[in-house]
Amino acid sequence: MSRPFDLLVRNAGTLFTADGPEGAPARQLLGPVPGGAVGILEAHVAWLGPERELPATSVAPSTKIVDAGGGLVAPGFVDSHTHLVWAGDRSGEFALRCAGADYLSIARAGGGIASTVRAVRGASDEALIALALPRLHRLLAQGVTTAEVKSGYGLDAETELRMLRVIDVLGARQPIRLLRTFLWPHAMPPGSLDRQGFLAQGREVLREVARAGLARFADAFVEEGAFSQDEVRPFLEEARSLGLWLKLHVDQLHAGGGAEFAASLGALSADHLESTSPEGILALSRARVTAVLIPTATLVLRLPRYAPGRALVDAGVPVALASNCNPGSAPTENLALALSLACLQNGLTPSEALLGVTRRGGEALGDTSLGRLRVGGPADLVVLGAPDVDHLVAHVGQSHVQTVVRAGRVVLRSDASTHC
Ligand code: NIG
Repeated sequence: MSRPFDLLVRNAGTLFTADGPEGAPARQLLGPVPGGAVGILEAHVAWLGPERELPATSVAPSTKIVDAGGGLVAPGFVDSHTHLVWAGDRSGEFALRCAGADYLSIARAGGGIASTVRAVRGASDEALIALALPRLHRLLAQGVTTAEVKSGYGLDAETELRMLRVIDVLGARQPIRLLRTFLWPHAMPPGSLDRQGFLAQGREVLREVARAGLARFADAFVEEGAFSQDEVRPFLEEARSLGLWLKLHVDQLHAGGGAEFAASLGALSADHLESTSPEGILALSRARVTAVLIPTATLVLRLPRYAPGRALVDAGVPVALASNCNPGSAPTENLALALSLACLQNGLTPSEALLGVTRRGGEALGDTSLGRLRVGGPADLVVLGAPDVDHLVAHVGQSHVQTVVRAGRVVLRSDASTHC
């Protein structure tokens, strides 16, 4: 007989494994198990299914119990696009946008990414860590158990490497699993006009990043006012040849054939996509690139259109949702709001939205063990005080997370009321 569970999560109204067969409709992809339970042993899922089928010998006095109270149990959320390490404050930009300024005009006037770069360069490692920890705590309260975190606010060798090391330290100081992305071509560094020199240096730093295993992904901001496809192609191709997966910021502010570019490079994900074209959608579908949509950034930047989520899903593109937590375009950790906006503005169904922060989030990070619950997989899950998926999104911007389990340990219990 196998050992009794360390932890049993029981009494789920519905358990979503998010591990249904690929190609099935969203509701089936969510793998609903009415009256479900999850048994956990040594940080992994040891058993899951209808509670009435729970093996009698699997629960002992030593087994800790989490009672889901008839709510939902789902995989821990995967936030597949963040820039959550930063210093400084850009709240003034929010007010400027409310008064009609746009993202690029603010950047040209010395604000935007460059202003955060100046603040990050002047901040110590400990200051960056102290600033990021509360953001991570807020993400945890949203149910996030895995987050991608980008560099991109250093834009010199020393500060970019420092950012990646800070993310590593953060991963050890709080429960959320952090996966690192090296984002050198994010913006031109303040005061520099030597684009070729900057991009050439990026490739040198990239080799150091790969050699020291400091990042799993490489990224670039491909946009008017940032970098062209031709400029970043050598960096991205070299990153790929060094074993890093590619994630790209594309078609956010202007239609630029960015989705097609991401597909041609075999990127893992194409992120933003507000201005992507029907051809871009087709290219993502053919190359099986995950689209990462960030509706909170569309909202905060007051962009004229949201990414075509409905058309992407209908074309067979896997669609993930992310917070993009950053000081400029998405100063928020509110993934619950992203889920609601994804339904209201991107045209996703509530089930597709939940998939976006579970299974699809894992796929956006190249790891199909993340964002799903299956025997042998990581025991990362959330208990949600809601009777059904519609409820999660209809209560706009409200997190229903009550309990978060990461690697088999209860790491957060909130007093969020049930079924509100
Ligand atoms: O994903 N678009 C580029 N990068 C970020 C914004 C970063 C910033 O404004 O500081 C984004 O939206």
